Amino acid sequence: MSTVRDIRCWTLQDQRQSLILAAHGTDLAEIIYWGPRLPDGTDLEMLVAAARMDVTGGMLDAVPPLSICPEARRSFPGQPGLSLTNSAGEALLPRFTFERAEEDDQTLTLLYHDAKNGLRYRARFELALATGMIRATASLTSEQPVSVSWLSAPVFPAPQNSHEMIDFHGRWIGEFQTSRTPWSAGARLRDNPTGRTGHEHFPGLIVPCTGATNSQGSAYAFHYGWSGGHKMLAEELPDGRRQIQWGHATGSRRSPGTQFETAPLYAVFSDQGINGCAIAFQRHLRDKILQPPAPARPRPVHYNCWEAVYFDHDHATLCDIASRAAALGAERFVLDDGWFGRRDDDTTSLGDWTIDRRKYPDGLMPLINHVHAEGMTFGIWFEPEMINPDSDLFRTHPDWVLGDPDQVLGRQQMVLNIALPEVQAYLYERISAVLADHPIDYVKWDHNRVLPEPDSAQAEAIYVLFDRLRADFPTVEFESCSSGGGRIDFGILSRTHRVWLSDSNDPLERLRIQHEAALFLPMVVTGSHVGPRKCHTSGRETDIRLRAWVAAQRHMGFEMDPRELTEEEADVLRQVTRWWKGNRHWTERADILRLDSDDPAVIAELQRAVDGSRFVAFAGLSAASAQILPRPLRLTGLEPGTLYEISLLNRDDAPGLSRGSPLLKTETARLSGQYLMHQGITLPWTFPQSIWVIEGTRL
Ligand code: DGJ
Repeated sequence: MSTVRDIRCWTLQDQRQSLILAAHGTDLAEIIYWGPRLPDGTDLEMLVAAARMDVTGGMLDAVPPLSICPEARRSFPGQPGLSLTNSAGEALLPRFTFERAEEDDQTLTLLYHDAKNGLRYRARFELALATGMIRATASLTSEQPVSVSWLSAPVFPAPQNSHEMIDFHGRWIGEFQTSRTPWSAGARLRDNPTGRTGHEHFPGLIVPCTGATNSQGSAYAFHYGWSGGHKMLAEELPDGRRQIQWGHATGSRRSPGTQFETAPLYAVFSDQGINGCAIAFQRHLRDKILQPPAPARPRPVHYNCWEAVYFDHDHATLCDIASRAAALGAERFVLDDGWFGRRDDDTTSLGDWTIDRRKYPDGLMPLINHVHAEGMTFGIWFEPEMINPDSDLFRTHPDWVLGDPDQVLGRQQMVLNIALPEVQAYLYERISAVLADHPIDYVKWDHNRVLPEPDSAQAEAIYVLFDRLRADFPTVEFESCSSGGGRIDFGILSRTHRVWLSDSNDPLERLRIQHEAALFLPMVVTGSHVGPRKCHTSGRETDIRLRAWVAAQRHMGFEMDPRELTEEEADVLRQVTRWWKGNRHWTERADILRLDSDDPAVIAELQRAVDGSRFVAFAGLSAASAQILPRPLRLTGLEPGTLYEISLLNRDDAPGLSRGSPLLKTETARLSGQYLMHQGITLPWTFPQSIWVIEGTRL
């Protein structure tokens, strides 16, 4: 901290950025600068003075501060950072006074109090030097119980040289769709009452500065790491300043209390385009948040039996499928829904976590032994937070349900109130019994309906249950699934190790979903499976090459019935799987860079090894192009002055209608990074709904 003439200043910085906060007297701090690193020895007093704004007619005589928790009682002209009432239901309008700061190179904690209302406020910022990610949290403590309807994580300003913001919506089998909203007076509000992260509201925001693309310009990005429903507010104040607030969803903190804390807000600045933000999120999640049971173990190729058998479990069939999956290259067999209670369809048995002896008369061990004999490990599906009215659990404990008894069901199911200690104890006992009795190294943890009412206690309780299970079963990996990608966030991913990105195994849908999700998710956590020839969720038939390569972009798996594969399809799948296994030692740690495609029909990315020595680029032609020949594919993230050897890995896939002789159809090319990034690669013509795979090595 530096103090000059009653101004306090704090700096957090790494090689690429400076974050500078300042406060007058004992006021709450404001972020007065966040952007490219300022020169050493920058005069902070001058920065504060230089940022002082004018006032004119119709304004107050001073501009109210846009602090880390804007206070309503200071005439702040926008959403305050905190809204609360006392036990009499009266609104409290706190005014905080500086108490002290704790700081070191990477963290800054600011503490304030409001003696009149008996409140304490704390904001904490932590800058991860290795990833450039800022993690910010806020907490409030009260001497008397209060009801908090809004507590924002520390408030960040947004740049005024930005025309639009990008946030996310989506749906089942259509996750990670982007919305671009022009900045204008007033607020854009995303308030997610569903009680889970949600397909509809991935908690992310990107604010590109004017002119920024994937590969160039400046951009800011945010992610609220919370699984229980969140609220985002991006507001332009009447004076033109802009603020970003994130916190728990409205109404989800249901009981009065004395301690409140936000989830971590992850914030990043990039001067290397939107990809700079994406790389920071990918690396930070992979290297700082995930806690894999065996970090050095390569990600195994999955086989998941859901779309092959659904609820129809028959020992001989499952063994046959498992043997075929292993022959294709699978390394882990996941037994999905249908193994417990009397679960012959999705109307029954959630909550009854005992093996169905009609389907498994000798238990699960005969199947597990077969899977092991085929050289695979064994994983299993649970949906612990749910209950079917048609279940023994419901018949015994109807009072364990969250919400009204006459609530509308979702997939025939209700949610258990897992904040109740007896429900936690029951679930822990049931799940741990299955894990303790069987050699299981993986759990797919599903969550297939929204909560009947907003309730943050539910997310807190699920974190507790995960933490307990992980402590007692440290070798088990967990996957977060929620009708596909309904619960993906850095909160759940600090307890799980993979996400089921979407229930869509349609490679065309997946190509897009994976492309957008890469803004936040690295390859290692992003499950992607080769589905059936005719996709079960789109009805579309696609070629095995497209299906296999799209799955090979991420954590690869298979989910079709392998008995449907022709010999040729099986060959292609084996080859692509072999490629994936042969490269995962570097692709698992690679940065995924989204390419700025000049053809809207092409969705393309480049995965670059951490040391920059090699890359693989995928260019998926999602539909027919408007022009007859492919536009050059401009790469990114290469060294301009270095030569690269480029080859088209799947050049044999060129169709007969490609009649010319572009170099890459038959040969490798040696081209500079400058050429590849400015001019781009000339690819052969190909069919819509196909994909080119380009490998590059630094010479
Ligand atoms: C929804 C999941 O997203 C699917 O992958 C599958 O596990 C089913 N649930 C099982 O009911």
